[in-house]
This record gives sequence, C-alpha cells and structure tokens, in this order.
Amino acid sequence: MCGTEKAALVNKCSLTSTAKENGSTRTTLSSDAVINLDQLTLLISLSHNGDPMMFESYWREMGDKCTFEIPGCQSLSYFANKNNLCWFLEPELEEEIKRLHRVVGNAAVEDHHVVVGTGSTQLIQAALYALSPPDESEPTSVVSATPYYSCYPEVTDFLRSGLYKWAGDARVFDKDGPYIEFVTSPSNPDGSIREAIVKKGQGKVVHDLAYYWPQYTPITCCAHFDVMLFTASKCTGHAGSRIGWALVKDKDVARKMTKFIEISTIGVSKEAQLRSAKIMGVISDSCLHPNSNNFFEYCQRLMAERWGKLKEVVGRSKIFTLPEYPPEYCLFTGEFSEAHPAFAWMKCNKNTEDFEKFLRAQKVLARSGRRFGSDPKFVRVSMLSREEEFEIFLHRLLSIQATSN
Ligand SMILES: Cc1ncc(COP(=O)(O)O)c(C=O)c1O
Repeated sequence: MCGTEKAALVNKCSLTSTAKENGSTRTTLSSDAVINLDQLTLLISLSHNGDPMMFESYWREMGDKCTFEIPGCQSLSYFANKNNLCWFLEPELEEEIKRLHRVVGNAAVEDHHVVVGTGSTQLIQAALYALSPPDESEPTSVVSATPYYSCYPEVTDFLRSGLYKWAGDARVFDKDGPYIEFVTSPSNPDGSIREAIVKKGQGKVVHDLAYYWPQYTPITCCAHFDVMLFTASKCTGHAGSRIGWALVKDKDVARKMTKFIEISTIGVSKEAQLRSAKIMGVISDSCLHPNSNNFFEYCQRLMAERWGKLKEVVGRSKIFTLPEYPPEYCLFTGEFSEAHPAFAWMKCNKNTEDFEKFLRAQKVLARSGRRFGSDPKFVRVSMLSREEEFEIFLHRLLSIQATSN
C-alpha cells in the first residue's frame, strides 16, 4: 500500500471523545475504528517502530516524581563535558545510564565508553560510519539475519553512502572482506534471542539491545559486546525524548561515533538528556527501594497480561500461530519467566498469501513479514499500544475466528 492510501486509512480511525486528564489530552476509539498496530504509520518511513504507549499508566502513577525545572540560564553551551570523549554527553545522564545497567545487570559498563545519540536510530548510523573501513574500493556490506529490524536496510541505503551498503540476510552472506552485522537481541520482530551468524575475520558486529530489559525478556547474562545500542524509547517508554546510548569498548570507534553525531547534529539536546537522566534515576530507585513501585516488575506484569490474553485468543483456533518462548532464569527478578516481546510475530495459517492485506480488510494495520526480509504469511503486531486499541484488536481476531469456523 502506498503512503497516502495508508495514511488515509489511518485518518479514518474514529475518535469519539476527547478529555483532559492530568493535563494531557486523551481520546476514545469507536468500536469500528482502524486499529494501528504497525505504529507511526502516518510517518510512513518510520513505520517499523513500536510506539511504547502502554507504560504511560506507570508514569501517571508516579505523578510528579520526574518533574523538574530547567532555568533559562542553564544549558546554553554546546558542550556538556569538554574532558569527556563524548563531549556533549551530560554527566548526570552518563551516571544514570551506568547505574541503571548495574541495577538491572543487563550490560557491562565498566570498560565501555558511553556515546549518547538522538535516539538509537542516530547511533545505528554513527556505528555504520565508525565501523566501515574508510579506504576500501567498494562499500562495506551490512547484513542482519532475517527476520531483521526493517529500519536497517532503509537507514543503510537511504543516503547511498560510498562507505557501506545493505547486503541482506546474514545467513546467506558469503562474501570475503569487511562487513558489519547487526544482531538485534531480543529480536524485533520475533522476540528471539540472537547471536552473530557470519563470524568471519574482517567482520564487525553491532549488538542492538533495545529490548534487553526485564519487562520484555529474562536477563540471562550481563552483555559484554564491543558495540551495544540501547534506547530510552524501549527501556523507559519515552520515545519522544529521542535519547539513545551506545556502550562502546574501543576508544577509536567511540571517537568516530561521536564525530558522526558532531557533524550531523552538533550533539544531543541537553533538555532531553537531563529529563532522561531524571527518569532513569527514578527507575533505578524504584528497583532498589523495597516499598517502591518497581518499574520493571510493573511493566513486566502489563506485558505478561497482554501476552496471556493474546495467547488465549489465538489458541481458540488454528488460524493464527505465535512463537513460543521457553521459561528462562532471570538474574534481575530471581525467577523463571517467559519472554513477553514488544511485538507479536503472528503467522496466518489460512489460505492467504498476504496476511497484512487480510488484516487491513479487518481494519487492523500490522507490518508485513516481507518488510523484515521474511514471509508475507507473517505480520508484526505491536504489543505496546494503548489498552483500548489492544482490546479492540483482540475482538477483531475473535470475529475473524468466528467467521472462519
Ligand atoms: C531494534 C530497534 N533498534 C532501534 C530502534 C530505534 O529506537 P529509537 O527510538 O531510539 O530511535 C528501534 C525502534 O523501534 C528498534 O526496534
């Protein structure tokens, strides 16, 4: 479907009422509204992202714990810390990033440099720049195993760089010479835990760990890779702040990534960094103080509830299937639990070649498996939408099942 057609369908979404709650505007959906579980479809080129609205209820409960003031005389300079390799990184943010990783135990921070970016999307580009050898006769191949995050091919080839070029599925890549492999773990779209596939001498690996947080998956080890990407969008749920960070072992790679951000945006908004630092601090405190409302436990509960409901509905017929996630011991919670990924990677077993099109006819917008280098019998459905949208989605699945029996 072309961009304008899809946008028109999204605009048909019926908003029946608008109310002010805690200063923010809320809308109510009518029962025949188009349900957008593809997310950000109005911004067609960004439509692979899962807008993490479901954690809003936690932040509402936290009231003004994250509220802070920035006086007009603060944050005028381009610089945050001239002595740091990443000179635009606010010291408070660096401290809170490291504290949060130590509290959760999901990534090593002691021997890594922190590079902040405008979302991890900017850091993906910075990593491509930093890891591509500068004087090769042809662009460095960029690969990821299918189904891969649909942003990688788009971001890699958007500017037709002479440094790097998208080369597709890592599983079938057999070219000699330098390459960059993106490993998304847990995977967007299918939630599986991934490892590097290609494993050749001249390769560089970027571990995109956007979803390696306890609300989505058991934390089974402290990740200790050369380049690890994280984002506030998926960790705290504040996608709008546009804060991502990279943990980078090699000083020269960290320096080059910093250079890329210097050239593209001369740093990253200080207001956004300070707000993210505050929010991460509140999360760490919530994990450390026994009587607080532990952020990850709260969000894990929400995710588990949604997955429980979706599995129950899907299990009522053989029309749809979902991946299985065996329980694993989580070092953070100290319990065995299943993964509750941010996306449901659903397969349609009906005689339909294009599951996305089939769902669209039921007024559900999901993203086709084709966009992830995979089969159009699959779609990716966001599990992070607002409650109301999710409930209507379940009802639509039930009515498909009822009419198919
Ligand atoms: C695997 C993965 N990496 C990176 C991103 C980009 O996140 P950000 O909002 O920080 O740009 C996303 C967003 O959906 C993602 O799913």
